[in-house]
Amino acid sequence: MLRHGVGEAGRPALALAPMATITHAGFRTLVHEYGGCDLYFTEMISAEALIGGTPFEDHYRSLAPVPARMIYQVIGYTHDAIVEAASRLAREPCAGIDVNMGCSAPQLVRKGAGIAWMYTPNATARLIGELRKIVPDRTLSVKLRLGRKDDPDALLALALRLQEAGVDFITLHPKRQKEGSARVARWGYVDLLKRELTIPIVGNGGIMDWASYLSRRGTQDNPRADALMIGRGAVRAPWLFAYLRSREAGRQEMEIDLSQVITRFLSLLEEHQPRQFWPSRARRVYPYFFSNVPFGHSLGARLADTRDYDDGRRLISEYFDAHPQRRRHVERN
Ligand SMILES: Cc1cc2nc3c(=O)[nH]c(=O)nc-3n(C[C@H](O)[C@H](O)[C@H](O)COP(=O)(O)O)c2cc1C
Repeated sequence: MLRHGVGEAGRPALALAPMATITHAGFRTLVHEYGGCDLYFTEMISAEALIGGTPFEDHYRSLAPVPARMIYQVIGYTHDAIVEAASRLAREPCAGIDVNMGCSAPQLVRKGAGIAWMYTPNATARLIGELRKIVPDRTLSVKLRLGRKDDPDALLALALRLQEAGVDFITLHPKRQKEGSARVARWGYVDLLKRELTIPIVGNGGIMDWASYLSRRGTQDNPRADALMIGRGAVRAPWLFAYLRSREAGRQEMEIDLSQVITRFLSLLEEHQPRQFWPSRARRVYPYFFSNVPFGHSLGARLADTRDYDDGRRLISEYFDAHPQRRRHVERN
């Protein structure tokens, strides 16, 4: 049921990771304009907030740029809230519904959301069974981490129960609950699930460029996962999916005009998101994006502190006017 691109010419499908405050419709459209990927996940959508009716609901529900490849990711505290939110979202022409069982933000986990679902296998299997009934014609998936500690038996037992309860695929971000972004994802666990389960497995964590992609992809004939999900690498380089595909097709380099990319991103942000969100959403992207620019870290950090959205825009255009040679980026690693 992970239909889009899986197994095409023996290669794994590519997915844009769900990232709160980043993978909104504007950012997804930017990725898509560069050639895109096979599956796009939304930011996590709070089941309770969706049911309560937020003023921004339409923005979270947007299925731009390609509804048929869009997966809504839901996070929630209770069985009933997740079921209700999923049944509402499944009325939209999306590809599927994913339940966030990996988020480890303490304020959410304490109240039973995200990774807390990994610790209550009976309740989780019951939730998936119920969701399977209400979303018969959409993909149903979960995104997991490792749990509190390395415990291959417990992880495998949970994954098998989820498979039995009816999920179509599982994404694994193989880090423990408390491991932050600096820790290396342990892809041996992706291999384990791939070996032991019959449903497709999506591997996620640490794919930032061609070299890290190759090590996680495995060989063309024997891929380590059915799909590879990319988060921060795509924020640094919204063209990364297109670049990986073009490298596979034999092209070595891709030349990018960074000024054009960031200007386009800001236009799409303005088009797809409410004005109140522009400053925070732009600031989220800047540090990743400006790591492409030689000596750009300090600009990224300065922009991350710039509260006024228009000031940020101005700073960027002045920067590229002053350093036109820094517009050019060649993706080759
Ligand atoms: C800013 C940010 C927001 C994130 N939000 C979510 C989210 O809403 N749902 C989720 O399942 N994971 C979320 N994640 C985790 C990513 O989906 C992904 O698992 C993680 O970044 C590892 O992948 P990467 O190494 O390719 O970045 C977020 C990560 C970042 C950096």
